[in-house]
Amino acid sequence: MTHRKAQFITLEGVEGAGKSTQKEALCRLLEANNIAYIETREPGGTPYAESIRELLLNHSDEAPCAKTELLLMFAARSQHLEHTILPALLKGLWVVCDRFTDATYAYQGGGRELPMDWIKTLETLVQGDYRPDLTLVFDVPVDIGLARAGRRGALDRIESEDIAFFERVRTTYQQIAARDTERVLMLEATADADHVTQAMYQMLSARWGLSCLPG
Ligand code: TMP
Repeated sequence: MTHRKAQFITLEGVEGAGKSTQKEALCRLLEANNIAYIETREPGGTPYAESIRELLLNHSDEAPCAKTELLLMFAARSQHLEHTILPALLKGLWVVCDRFTDATYAYQGGGRELPMDWIKTLETLVQGDYRPDLTLVFDVPVDIGLARAGRRGALDRIESEDIAFFERVRTTYQQIAARDTERVLMLEATADADHVTQAMYQMLSARWGLSCLPG
């Protein structure tokens, strides 16, 4: 293997883009190549941050206003970074994280239409210069994604937003991918999951110089 530095990898996409399935496939690729890793998610990833996740995603009589939502996302992220992500990377473990700050740009910036500058300021406050090494964006038309998400069961507070919200989320992810081509790889995720996995394996094996594919 040519790439030894522990990588911080994030997975992104609108609801129903197949992120969870591809996350499992990515973990199998790492295992096949004897790469030690942890799996984590946002919002969440520590007990404290998981409590914030509940506040953010559960339906309640008093919904957070958009600014509160934004601040809670970064409050959870600060805790997650300090207590889970950075310690793992320091130990040489790769980190596979279901969503990170690109989700804030997409959902609170795109979806909620909060100023991107606010997000940038909070990103710098919480992360300094720290960014993921690689972000995989799974892109799927919103109607297809939402239909898949609907089949999984009850929708959480954010999943219950309207189509226009998710169109803005998707567009923001596409803009991020177009702007930051070194860090962000976008995968077309409308095809069946196996096709998406094979495309992902090809990209990642080349990027990291991996020799083994999961059997
Ligand atoms: P999940 O359903 O992929 O676990 O993600 C939880 C929800 O939280 C999802 O609807 C996206 C949303 N979210 C944001 O709105 N902003 C963020 O910064 C993050 C990390 C997630």
